[in-house]
Amino acid sequence: MTDLSEGFDTVLVVDFGAQYAQLIARRVREAHVYSEIVPHDMPVADMLARRPRGIIFSGGPKSVHVAGAPTVDAGVYKAGVPVLGICYGAQLLAQQLGGQVARTGRGEYGRTPMQVVSASALMAGLPNEQDVWMSHFDAIVAPPPGFTVTAMSPDAPVAALEDAEHAIYGVQFHPEVAHTPRGQEILKHFLYDVCGCRPNWTMTSIIESSVEAVRDQVGGEKVICGLSGGVDSAVAAALVHKAVGDQLTCVFVDTGLMRAGEAEQVETTFRRQFNVDLVHVKAGDRFLESLNDVIDPERKRKIIGETFIRVFEEVAADFEDARFLVQGTLYPDIIESGTSDAAKIKSHHNVGGLPDDMNFELVEPLRNLFKDEVRAVGEELGLPEDIVWRQPFPGPGLAVRIIGTITPERVAILQAADAIVVEEIKRAGLYRDIWQSFAVLPAVRTVGVMGDERTYAYPIVIRAVTSEDAMTADWARLPYDLLERLSSRIINEVPGVNRVALDITSKPPGTIEWE
Ligand code: XMP
Repeated sequence: MTDLSEGFDTVLVVDFGAQYAQLIARRVREAHVYSEIVPHDMPVADMLARRPRGIIFSGGPKSVHVAGAPTVDAGVYKAGVPVLGICYGAQLLAQQLGGQVARTGRGEYGRTPMQVVSASALMAGLPNEQDVWMSHFDAIVAPPPGFTVTAMSPDAPVAALEDAEHAIYGVQFHPEVAHTPRGQEILKHFLYDVCGCRPNWTMTSIIESSVEAVRDQVGGEKVICGLSGGVDSAVAAALVHKAVGDQLTCVFVDTGLMRAGEAEQVETTFRRQFNVDLVHVKAGDRFLESLNDVIDPERKRKIIGETFIRVFEEVAADFEDARFLVQGTLYPDIIESGTSDAAKIKSHHNVGGLPDDMNFELVEPLRNLFKDEVRAVGEELGLPEDIVWRQPFPGPGLAVRIIGTITPERVAILQAADAIVVEEIKRAGLYRDIWQSFAVLPAVRTVGVMGDERTYAYPIVIRAVTSEDAMTADWARLPYDLLERLSSRIINEVPGVNRVALDITSKPPGTIEWE
């Protein structure tokens, strides 16, 4: 397993409710300090074993007063490592150190004016009056002995507190959210001035240390990597290639269910630009054959998953001497599978997921990185924008966007319509802001008229959603003139289509994909 955290000053983010912790960890990294999320029940000795320069307690959805509220070993305050508690984290440290947290009946939610009432290293150089983002029901009403109240807000008598001598700080507000305009500066004060962290978590150093970690792990052995066309596998492959050059062979299983131009792009980028040894398996016919007459969505997924594994195994048999397999696992995948308090994220049976009995050791060069860091690494390595910023795409590909039977004709219709959607969304400058935007081909035909002719053809449905993490999503409010262009181009340019509809369903109750 590769570990690239070596050599970086580390700040631990103790997780009292996962959504909060991830954002804090990302903000710390944006300040170029390496951060790791750890569960709140981790023994302090294990936390200290990571040699953190600072520890941040996240917010959390519970009250410190309810039974079973998450807590942390109070030994953490005696370890000589600076602590910053945020929201629930501040309440917890106040309570554990002898202060008082109460249900005042006057919670604060949203943008709140805050007044700095005593000089604090956290607020150095910041205005005494500033807006902060609050989201709390309980409030700290009395600080622990030895603590100073450094800021107040209308309904939080203690909006910030500290024991500077022991480097223990708490803020009731959320410095990690964009709605606290000076929040990042407050975090930076904690990281640089209180913890003494060096801002050395930069793209160049991330790449250097991952390359080194991959070299250490792999030695002189052969490595294979499955490319999917998506950003994660592409960046993982590019990193490993930088590390071990032609010890790497990439395998791209072309299912025939990719977006228009995707296979060519993988070829151009990896074979031509990066000079990677690439095996391009054109298995479209085989996939289509196995999907013949299949209309049930779950069966489609299963068949595609199994066919993928079989094809990959056949190819891998030609590389018997390869000991390592690259996986594009990201940090959030690791946190989500390992944190007891994280809301369980629905796991798709991922096509490209390989059976455990394949005899490979995994190389996971992205396992410490968030998605935005993966993109930045991809850009730094020179991967094309089209790959680095590609929207998520389901493993089973267009099969789950072709409702009903999948035939070569219907794949071609959807690819052509989808390419227009992508092109126009990009031209409108919306591609990066929209989580996913694509075309769906339903299984009905409707009547239309084109020229003097009656037509009986398929509709195309446009699906565009905004989302943070695909768990929930809202339909994107696309401008009317864009919708008009989409409609007219799809009908005029894609034979077999005579109608365009827009899906205006959020998730829940809909899912992002149609199948
Ligand atoms: P749904 O349709 O469940 O999709 O709202 C949520 C997100 O997951 C993607 N998706 C998949 N990703 N393998 C994947 O790797 C799959 O089988 C799969 N099915 C859906 C979907 O595109 C969306 O981003």
